[in-house]
Amino acid sequence: MRVWQVLSIVLVTSMDGATSIYEGLRGHQVWSVNGDTDGLVSQLRLRGMVDVLHHSGPTQKLRVSPEFASDVLANFQDAGLEYHAVIGDLAAFLQEEENRDRSVRRESEDSCTAHRCSAPLHAQYMTFEQMEWYLKQVNETSPSKISVSSIGRSVLGRDLWLAHLKATNSTGRSVWIEAGIHAREWISSAVALHIIHKLLYDDSVMADVDVYVVPMANPDGYVYTWTNDRLWRKNRRPVANSSCDGVDLNRNWDDHFGVGASSHACSEIYDGLFAFSEPETQALRDAMQKEKDNLILVLSLHSFGQTLLYPWGWSATKEAPGTLQLIAVGKIFVEAIRAATGRHYSVKNSARDLYVASGTTDDWAMAVLGTKYVYTVELRDQGFTGFLLPAAEIVPCSVEVWHGLQEVIKHIIKEETTSL
Ligand SMILES: *[C@@H]1O[C@H](CO)[C@@H](O)[C@H](O)[C@H]1NC(C)=O
Ligand SMILES: *[C@@H]1O[C@H](CO)[C@@H](O)[C@H](O)[C@H]1NC(C)=O
Ligand SMILES: *[C@@H]1O[C@H](CO)[C@@H](O)[C@H](O)[C@H]1NC(C)=O
Ligand SMILES: [Zn+2]
Repeated sequence: MRVWQVLSIVLVTSMDGATSIYEGLRGHQVWSVNGDTDGLVSQLRLRGMVDVLHHSGPTQKLRVSPEFASDVLANFQDAGLEYHAVIGDLAAFLQEEENRDRSVRRESEDSCTAHRCSAPLHAQYMTFEQMEWYLKQVNETSPSKISVSSIGRSVLGRDLWLAHLKATNSTGRSVWIEAGIHAREWISSAVALHIIHKLLYDDSVMADVDVYVVPMANPDGYVYTWTNDRLWRKNRRPVANSSCDGVDLNRNWDDHFGVGASSHACSEIYDGLFAFSEPETQALRDAMQKEKDNLILVLSLHSFGQTLLYPWGWSATKEAPGTLQLIAVGKIFVEAIRAATGRHYSVKNSARDLYVASGTTDDWAMAVLGTKYVYTVELRDQGFTGFLLPAAEIVPCSVEVWHGLQEVIKHIIKEETTSL
């Protein structure tokens, strides 16, 4: 009796003291599956029973919640599919990792407060509030170079910020960079902020184009990854008559809506009740449409995989217009990174080389806006740490994207000039 009392007190206290960020993952396991030739995993994903964390060749890594573990297991056994658990409890695993890292990680939080946030953090991921402080500060201190405005509000009323980096010698051409549409892909927003910072002090070819950056396209989801569930992906839309929340904003655009997505609210790739059902995608759509005639390049930053994905995502057999050029310019990006840093990125088609994904930013930009060069960029890494990329990689990852971006812009401008 006494022992149990003591134990429960200890448990309650230690859970109280722990960061709740991983609590949502208590009891979640990571399974590794081999040889799924029948696409059983995809079917389970569509039904919201597994979350695909990584696939490299024939091996897939899945997150399985305690709720569905026995169902998934039964499905695997029926299909004769081999699996083994790699992580028994994600909450414990992540907490342990963080404790180990904590001694290594050190950047003063003081460098980014409500009163002073003059640069994006280098060695730490920023909270949504810190991102806002940074954007507001540079908007105030460099009004000739940057203009920050809200293009709308999220489901829970948070601002969707757009940073316009003004061309010093405008050529009427512009570039669109979207980041953070998937909440758990923290590196994408971190890189977007570092690109903004670079552009503020830049006099390279990038200064000839107007650059629009939405560093945080899914603020509600991002905040939720800090407070409840580090691996949350979708927005925070409550779904009627379902125990699950959230719409995958990168399946909610109006181009082949529903083809490579799920209509089950519990799925990580739930596309919503209808195309553009979400205020986040509506705001992005409207802001992009205003720039329609000037856009020469649209990038949607994600993680992970170190891959440039070109459209179409909705079909593995239909080719997007200008596919050869999309591949060629993608290779310029990849080669610029290789030459400058030695890091390996590759160019792939989403549907053919990974999985069919429809209702995405990039497909919509190409199909509806008619932008010629459109990519989904999967940033670091190749799956070793995946969505949990250490903050020490923020700067090197930003640097490599900067190299790729400059060469691609240079090429597109030259191509346009010579074809006039
Ligand atoms: C940015 O600055 C302009 C004035 O230069 C102001 O009108 C606007 O509200 C500012 N944006 C933010 C987000 O503070
Ligand atoms: C702006 O571009 C024009 C030609 O397009 C060029 O003559 C001029 O020198 C440029 N100005 C600056 C500041 O780069
Ligand atoms: C939710 O369930 C109620 C009662 O069964 C029903 O009236 C309503 O139409 C359902 N809503 C949706 C969006 O399915
Ligand atoms: Zn993503």
